[in-house]
Amino acid sequence: MRKKIVAGNWKMNKTATEAVALAAEVAALVKSDVPSNVQVIMAPPSLFISEVNKATEGIANLSVSAQNCHEKASGAYTGEISAPMLASAGIPYVILGHSERRQYFQESNAQLAAKVDAALENKLTPIFCCGESLELREGGEFLAFVAQQLTESLFHLSAEAFGQVVIAYEPIWAIGTGLTASSAQAQEMHAYLRQHIAGKYGQAIADACSILYGGSCNAQNAAELFACADVDGGLIGGASLKAGDFITIAKSF
Ligand code: PGA
Repeated sequence: MRKKIVAGNWKMNKTATEAVALAAEVAALVKSDVPSNVQVIMAPPSLFISEVNKATEGIANLSVSAQNCHEKASGAYTGEISAPMLASAGIPYVILGHSERRQYFQESNAQLAAKVDAALENKLTPIFCCGESLELREGGEFLAFVAQQLTESLFHLSAEAFGQVVIAYEPIWAIGTGLTASSAQAQEMHAYLRQHIAGKYGQAIADACSILYGGSCNAQNAAELFACADVDGGLIGGASLKAGDFITIAKSF
């Protein structure tokens, strides 16, 4: 069956000392409390990934992720980090296409397709984010819009390559707002996306694809969301900054 995953997106939070302390707390709790079939991932700011990665050593179901990477392998791109660099530092995952990257850094579906390629070529697992604005939700075209994000950024991949991708559905109106999607809204989108994937790659590959929910998912509502048939875990922002809350979420399957 498909992997259960809870990933914490720390965004631009935590100093060096705080990051190491949070990673140590999460690591201790994953060891003692989280079932081995749940993969827990921490995505700290890139500056701290290697340090945070040390805390995951020897814990099979705890890993780290980058929050982004550049599509080019190297070159004159001041401030950027490439997929080969992440791979060389032993980083297994990279979040791509977060709505904040799309909104503030103008990342397009086409650019994200190139980033996905860069990640996969370097054996990084992309956690590919998608999701609609409130305007699109209210306009009623949200299902087709999100399916199109997958089509334009992922559907050029071979079936084998697609099988490496984790998807995170994050309605923009739910991110950092406290307005969680209801379990019915999450399930509707996740089932729709799985069907969309099946249409392209077949049912077996669609059934094996982990689709995470993100957007104000917290220690209180995670269990209801994770109980949905097509919700395979969560991408957690605010609630991943406290080890206790984050681990409660990881135990919510
Ligand atoms: P949130 O963020 O949990 O703080 O809403 C989720 C995300 O942006 O990944």
